[in-house]
Amino acid sequence: MNVAIVGGHGNVSLRLARRLASRANTKVFSIVRNSAHNDDVTAAGATPVELSLEDSPKEKFAEVFTGKDLVYFAAGSGGKGGAERMRKVDFEGAVKVFDALELVPEPRPRLILVSSVDVRDYNKRPPHYTDADVKKSEEYQKALGGYFEAKHQADLDLVRRAAFKWTILRPALYTNDEGTGLVQVGKTHLDGTISRDDVAQGWCKSARRTWTARSPAMMSHMHSHCSQIAQTQLG
Ligand SMILES: NC(=O)c1ccc[n+]([C@@H]2O[C@H](COP(=O)([O-])OP(=O)(O)OC[C@H]3O[C@@H](n4cnc5c(N)ncnc54)[C@H](OP(=O)(O)O)[C@@H]3O)[C@@H](O)[C@H]2O)c1
Repeated sequence: MNVAIVGGHGNVSLRLARRLASRANTKVFSIVRNSAHNDDVTAAGATPVELSLEDSPKEKFAEVFTGKDLVYFAAGSGGKGGAERMRKVDFEGAVKVFDALELVPEPRPRLILVSSVDVRDYNKRPPHYTDADVKKSEEYQKALGGYFEAKHQADLDLVRRAAFKWTILRPALYTNDEGTGLVQVGKTHLDGTISRDDVAQGWCKSARRTWTARSPAMMSHMHSHCSQIAQTQLG
């Protein structure tokens, strides 16, 4: 399997690259925007490719995606740099990747888009949200409204596309805790977190779960009062 990771020097992406690259017959190409990150990517077992979501044209991304089976969009502004940068990276950067995938000759790679928990239409309350979820969502909006809006616009753009297969993952807030090997997938609440190790393992597992194509999936660490969720063993 040939895999490209956009946002290849990210905290989770490096963990993901290590996992994927250790599989037999799997080659990983990690897209970075800063050559100073090449050594870290190589140490993770991946091949660095230098491109910037803000500055490089979609045609350059299409060249890298050609011949790949799977592309992860795992880049992000991290909610930093103001609303304009969030829009540039989290929305326009994602759309550039979608457009690039459409330029790739068939068979096109499948895309796994890393969105976030609570990315949604904020005019509608999800039926499974508790009052505590609504309160937490309001806190997220206050702190990172531009980030969630950019992520939501990217999700909305992707769900209209049919030229390639895609999966949207909506992980909960990350921690640096040790991985547990367990995640919950489904309609989670907003008080859960997930360790970066478990996120990487979950993304890695999604690589082969092609049945998740064209469906959004939320993902969080096991949490006692989550309902309507499937607990998944990652190992
Ligand atoms: N943090 C959370 O709690 C959380 C929760 C849910 C979802 N997520 C999403 O999960 C994904 C991965 O998160 P993470 O914590 O691993 O992210 P991260 O460590 O902040 O990594 C993001 C990567 O995106 C790259 N990037 C930023 N701007 C770019 C540009 N213009 N061109 C190319 N690359 C660019 C960064 O490159 P540089 O290293 O050069 O800056 C960085 O390597 C992101 O999509 C994030 O939005 C995060």
